[in-house]
Amino acid sequence: MNKRRLENQNKRRLVEQRLTAKNKCSRLARLDILAHIFFKTTLLWNRGRKNAESIITNEISFTIKELPEKFDNTKILFMSDLHIRGKINQLDKISKMISKLEYDFCILGGDYCDSFKHEKKEMTEIITPLLKLLLEKSPVYAVLGNHDSIDVAYFFSSLGVEMLINDSAVITRENEKIALVGIDDCHRYKSDDFEIAEENLGSPEFKILISHSPEKYQEAQKKGYNLYFAGHTHGGQICLPGGFAPITNAQVPRKIAAGKWQYKQMQGYTSRGVGSSKTPLRFNCPPEICLIALSCFNANR
Ligand SMILES: [Fe+2]
Repeated sequence: MNKRRLENQNKRRLVEQRLTAKNKCSRLARLDILAHIFFKTTLLWNRGRKNAESIITNEISFTIKELPEKFDNTKILFMSDLHIRGKINQLDKISKMISKLEYDFCILGGDYCDSFKHEKKEMTEIITPLLKLLLEKSPVYAVLGNHDSIDVAYFFSSLGVEMLINDSAVITRENEKIALVGIDDCHRYKSDDFEIAEENLGSPEFKILISHSPEKYQEAQKKGYNLYFAGHTHGGQICLPGGFAPITNAQVPRKIAAGKWQYKQMQGYTSRGVGSSKTPLRFNCPPEICLIALSCFNANR
């Protein structure tokens, strides 16, 4: 990780936070208060809490003709939006689920803690054991979300996580390569920068974009990405029966706000997330750990 680049990002984040955070937070805070009152008075609170703690492993597969043959049957663990709020029990459960899974590498999509206030304590006491488990199993690549301070990047990096903050990494198998490109948060801080992220990339035959929010889907498609992994929306978190999300907190079409999607030639997945934020409930939108399988359309079987 380039230290100078991170320091520049930090300054930019602080400036952007002052400019953009106030209005968005106050609108969401008002909705949050109303939601708390509604769910407490209708006695749905306990059911919503139980739903929010019932994490599933979601197996997703992509068949992509551009995927290099040596990467056929690649498995990726993808987790986003942990939103740890001092709950060690949840992390125990997540660790047990991950221990049973087999995969080639792990991608983390941001929003690890819920607020800057408890971030340091939660990273040290709760997230460190999880990261150690993940790093024992495979390489780990991560981006930051709109709830993460720049300290998260330094902390993750010190443990051995490869932070892709407007940066890229290349995975090689024999003579074939795929590129992982991570952009910084494009939702709140607007500190994403494709130009810097792709600086050392060359011309890979297959590119995966990791972005906390799916809001860069049009730009990514124009730039020739094959796959786009995102989180941020929590799939709506509180949805109507059938999974319709009244609020997604992202400027994207509904089909891109949750689950598997396609935009022109590019495919993508927007995770419903592992944790929950604001009103800590879920309805018709289970929290998930994603096990993504990539297969090559043309592979000889
Ligand atoms: Fe989130």
